Amino acid sequence: MRWPTGLDGLCYGGDYNPEQWPESTWRDDVSLMRQARVNLVTVGVFAWSRLEPRPGQYTADWLDRLLDLLHGGGIKVALATPTASPPPWFSLAHPDALPVTADGVRLHHGSRDTYCAATPAYRDAARTIATMLAERYRDHPALAMWHVHNEYGTICHCPHTAEAFRRWLRDRYGDLAALNDAWTGAFWSQCYSDWAQVDTPRATQYLSNPTQALDFRRFWSDELLAAYLDQRDLLRRITPQVPVTTNYVLGDWVPVDHARWSREVDLVAIDHYPGETDRRAEEQTALAGDLARSWSGRRPWLLMESAPNLIHRYAEGVAYAKEPDRMLRHSIAHIARGSRGAMFFQWRASRGGAEAFHSAMVPHAGADSRTFQTTVRLGKLLERLAETDEGEVPAQVAIGWDAASGWALQHPGLPSRHIEYADEVAAAHRALWRCGILTDFVCPAAGQLDLTGYRMLVLPALYLMSDEFADELGRWVHAGGHLVVSYLSGVADQYARVRLGGYPGALRDLLGVRAEEFLPLGPGATVALTGGRSGRLWQERCATYGADPVLAYRDGPLAGAPAVTRRRVGAGTAWYLSTRLDDDAYRGLLAVAAAEARVAPVLPGAPAGVEAVRRVSGDRRWLFLFNHGSTAAEVDAWGDDLASGRPAGGPVTVEAGGVVVLREQARVRRGLRRIGRVSVIGDD
Ligand code: GAL
Repeated sequence: MRWPTGLDGLCYGGDYNPEQWPESTWRDDVSLMRQARVNLVTVGVFAWSRLEPRPGQYTADWLDRLLDLLHGGGIKVALATPTASPPPWFSLAHPDALPVTADGVRLHHGSRDTYCAATPAYRDAARTIATMLAERYRDHPALAMWHVHNEYGTICHCPHTAEAFRRWLRDRYGDLAALNDAWTGAFWSQCYSDWAQVDTPRATQYLSNPTQALDFRRFWSDELLAAYLDQRDLLRRITPQVPVTTNYVLGDWVPVDHARWSREVDLVAIDHYPGETDRRAEEQTALAGDLARSWSGRRPWLLMESAPNLIHRYAEGVAYAKEPDRMLRHSIAHIARGSRGAMFFQWRASRGGAEAFHSAMVPHAGADSRTFQTTVRLGKLLERLAETDEGEVPAQVAIGWDAASGWALQHPGLPSRHIEYADEVAAAHRALWRCGILTDFVCPAAGQLDLTGYRMLVLPALYLMSDEFADELGRWVHAGGHLVVSYLSGVADQYARVRLGGYPGALRDLLGVRAEEFLPLGPGATVALTGGRSGRLWQERCATYGADPVLAYRDGPLAGAPAVTRRRVGAGTAWYLSTRLDDDAYRGLLAVAAAEARVAPVLPGAPAGVEAVRRVSGDRRWLFLFNHGSTAAEVDAWGDDLASGRPAGGPVTVEAGGVVVLREQARVRRGLRRIGRVSVIGDD
């Protein structure tokens, strides 16, 4: 990882769109930024039409003046390449670069992200504007980082894309016989006899070919990555001293395998906008931070965008206000999990355009507002938290994350449309989060499976599994690893072809379980389990061979059959969950598995509603305490409170909605060696 050059401490700032404002406003901006202790802004992210209003005519003099002004104010710049929003002249000159939807509609300009990344004219134009910026600003002292593009994600089905897809498939399969075999072309007469017949998964009469759809997602992630690499490589060549990154957007619609991409960025940067207003917003924040840190190889990363206010619930069509303390809490929660700063969309609220009512660090009301006051509070706090940046986040538990499995599970031909991969992963993460246990993610796409340092691994719905991955898991469990696997894992090979002989295919022998039948549950339906627990979404008719039943189905067609099993394997343990346990049962089960694996919560006995995260560097430790509850909490911890600079503890009071960050003292460290007591679930 490489860091924005010339920046001390944590990064603080956001997207800054001066092209929307007169220059007199820029001076106010710099003065307010200084007041808020902003030190880094992303500039020019959607400024292409202001930089090149006509083909080849550059008008960047305003950007020269802006960068000078920011530099004068001591503010560094993450200079964006504006390629996520080509100007109207470009689209009119190159209509073949406008994206085509799966049902063949060619989109028109008038919004953003309206380009096809596989079209040569677009790729050329993107390289040209990026080269212009790199050459013009290569020696500018404000330039701290390149921010390539914005949230790669646009999908296209045009002829250029189809051609690139065929090239990718030829590389992968070599010949059509191999492709027909991998795609199970014998089903529904889909064998291809000429490469020209192969297309992207366009709208069809009925269900599409699942492996074609999966390969298209894999291909498109690689194609977008190639578009990023075009720019990264030229920027690295012209400005080798300046790190290059792009901001990831999260969501199951995103056709990007972030684990794979993370090998190519100098700094993992994510945008994070929780979509829930209740406690799930905190869970989502923790999940996003843990993912980003894991993509970054357990090293620091950067929260590139978040909302200073407002949580958009798109399904409801309402944007709810975020309480000021919550904005602070979410920002610090990302820092606790390894972010080297807190950045926002955006600095100043736009007065027009499609996102005029998006929240901003400086809202429409101006500096005399609670949002700006919170912006200032956060800036002061971040200065005091800078020392925590050297600490690692030492997780001993990992969760599996595999974008390709998630894509494969989206195919409507699966036995249930109600299984969402992201939700399966979130449920496992939530259960551990509620146990107070820190987690990393391990990603098959990141390369060789490396479980060094982990005592426990949870694999929710890891649908696609190679033999090598399964073998490596087996060796790890034999050597003492504690593995928890859920339904729909190991069921298919990399081509989404079902492994025969019983589910969960690749993992049957390791788990000592063979399921001969899936019995999905309808929306809202539950099944009673022993121990007063319940399952939903999924059930399986399992027989054990070598595994012990832990929970059994209590009613329905599977009454008496095992629902959750556990098998001792060498020095380790392998658990299998054939249904989605209710949240309390899931938490209880993972607490038991963690205790067996000798994994402790960060703060055993933390009061309800208090989240604790610890960062460690040698013998220096920092404890982050977040009170998500509505009453003040007393926490058994000691140290120097970084916000006040004063000693605190025995106990520490964390106000409702508040955050306390302690530089811990020795008394607490002894407590680290305790293993939290957890209760065993299950006996009827
Ligand atoms: C992000 C995007 C920003 C802005 C923001 C609004 O995904 O990168 O440009 O649109 O969403 O929440």
